[in-house]
Amino acid sequence: MEKKKILFVCLGNICRSPMAETIFEALLKEHNLQEYYEIDSAGLDNYHEGEAADKRMREHAYQHGYHITHKSRHVKTADFDYYDLILGMDDQNIRGLKSRAVSDDRIKKINRMTNYCTQFIEADAVPDPYYGGDAGFQYVIELLQDACKGLLLEVEGERKQASR
Ligand code: 4NP
Repeated sequence: MEKKKILFVCLGNICRSPMAETIFEALLKEHNLQEYYEIDSAGLDNYHEGEAADKRMREHAYQHGYHITHKSRHVKTADFDYYDLILGMDDQNIRGLKSRAVSDDRIKKINRMTNYCTQFIEADAVPDPYYGGDAGFQYVIELLQDACKGLLLEVEGERKQASR
């Protein structure tokens, strides 16, 4: 069976989406599911193209046992065809993605990361931590751990259904 391809998207691709990618990758590893998924992350702007993730995000990640290795890249038109699921972190990301997706087939692939939360069910965004302090980075990790677990449950449910 073909791998399910998931792209995590935020604005700069140096804080939230590389963190989401790293947490989801860790979950796949923990459950020995890496062979079924291909994942990446990207940003809607290209201000940080080629850069490592924000030092503050990397340090908070490290405190939780995660190691972010991703280098920032911007979302490309080809991503909308290549990936099966394109997940934005907030409504601004969703609007940016929809405006670039153009066709209905591509728009259907877009969803908001917090829609997969099962604990932070009131959350309607993974807020941009860039101009804030430590608490913002900590919250990003907590939200993304919840959303990534919910996402894995959903996509694994679909995969098992399809393989019956
Ligand atoms: P991210 O955070 O979208 O979670 O990577 C940001 C990073 C950089 C900027 C904004 C948000 N910036 O304006 O440079």
